[in-house]
Amino acid sequence: MKLSTPEFRAMQSLPRKWGQCYFEMPMFQRMGMNLQNKDVLEIGCGSGYGAQLLSQLHPKSYIGLDVMEEQIALAQTQYPQFQFIVQGTEDLGHFPTASKDVVVIFGVLHHIPNWRKAVNEIARVLKPGGSLFLEEPRGVDIKVFDAFFRWGHPDTDFGLKALDAHLTQLGLIIRAKQWTPLLTMYHVTKG
Ligand SMILES: C[S@@+](CC[C@H](N)C(=O)[O-])C[C@H]1O[C@@H](n2cnc3c(N)ncnc32)[C@H](O)[C@@H]1O
Repeated sequence: MKLSTPEFRAMQSLPRKWGQCYFEMPMFQRMGMNLQNKDVLEIGCGSGYGAQLLSQLHPKSYIGLDVMEEQIALAQTQYPQFQFIVQGTEDLGHFPTASKDVVVIFGVLHHIPNWRKAVNEIARVLKPGGSLFLEEPRGVDIKVFDAFFRWGHPDTDFGLKALDAHLTQLGLIIRAKQWTPLLTMYHVTKG
């Protein structure tokens, strides 16, 4: 689902980039992120800053997708050296089964009404043994953000318990899970 205007603005802000660079990426690396020579897909890449950070870990290939044309237009303008496409995660038919070594999500599933379908697609495109690094807020924190900042998240049943249950049901393995005040970070593998 498209972001509200306040959240869209917040996602372009310096504090957002600061958090992604100095807190979230180092945490993913401590949880085992290794992109050297890997085919990487970033889900909900927004305006592209994640591409800049992930490329520093020397992947073989990188592609970022986002459902918002406005985000992809910004990403293509700011980071023309990377590949971005307008694409919803619920149908990744563009990507063959078992074609990606690593999928990365910086806070996106809680924006997708049919987030289970999105996770099913991510599991499909991951290679056996591949990794999913994801971070999402808890359901309760999403409600607090909406009350204070009026970010207008979709009304879904997304929550970390439901996410854990769905990952497990798909046969994915939660290798590491780290709670932080705003986001919970995961390293999940396919087998
Ligand atoms: C909270 S923003 C995070 C953006 C960026 N990953 C970051 O950390 O700054 C969520 C992003 O998910 C995108 N999004 C929402 N629904 C989506 C979907 N179904 N498929 C792909 N991207 C989606 C939004 O357009 C937005 O750019």
